[in-house]
Amino acid sequence: MDIDLKTLDSSQQYKLLMSSVLPRPIALVTSLDRNGVINAAPFSLFNIMAASPPTVVIGIDARAPGTPKDTARNIQQTGEFVINLVNEPMADKMNLCASALDADVNELEHSGLTAVASVQVAPPRIAESPISLECSRLTALDIGNERSIIVGTIVHYHIKDQFYDVEKGYVLAEQMGLIARMHGRSWYSRTTDLFEVHRPDTSRYA
Ligand SMILES: Cc1cc2nc3c(=O)[nH]c(=O)nc-3n(C[C@H](O)[C@H](O)[C@H](O)COP(=O)(O)O)c2cc1C
Repeated sequence: MDIDLKTLDSSQQYKLLMSSVLPRPIALVTSLDRNGVINAAPFSLFNIMAASPPTVVIGIDARAPGTPKDTARNIQQTGEFVINLVNEPMADKMNLCASALDADVNELEHSGLTAVASVQVAPPRIAESPISLECSRLTALDIGNERSIIVGTIVHYHIKDQFYDVEKGYVLAEQMGLIARMHGRSWYSRTTDLFEVHRPDTSRYA
């Protein structure tokens, strides 16, 4: 079967595509509004695009026609944000951060997650996250239909000590238990069912 996407309305496109490109990593993004109120929200239209310069992207819809989501507005206004990666023990609290709360509500307090001061940006990171990436906004693409893609540069990296082998310089990825978004509104996957495929050319890491 093949489908001309122009024949689908936006909710049909959403249903098809969000259940196709899987699994998607989750960025629990912390940002600050102009008054310094903390905002936290999860985004699975997210990935790293380059390691050097360290570059991330996040796709953000409008909350309603003419009304941006708080995360998009905050990043536009302040230019700074933190991406906190999400493991299974954080799943329920991450989900609470997706509630459509008033802009003056601190989602970290609402969900029971813990804010810790960042090093190079004003928005805090989340203590429970295995890895947090402090970011500054590089640019934002308006892709139409009130959707934007934020491009950010990672300026500072945090990892919990127990997930980093300092001697070998390895992230202990299997032990972090990161989760990812799957199809539908409520399905997630673990990162524990792994298998190995050896690269034909092992001279480069990438
Ligand atoms: C796991 C998960 C992933 C999500 N991914 C996205 C996404 O990539 N883009 C988006 O616009 N909304 C996404 N959402 C919905 C937002 O988190 C939700 O609209 C949130 O209320 C936005 O908060 P804010 O207005 O404080 O920025 C996701 C929700 C969940 C639970």
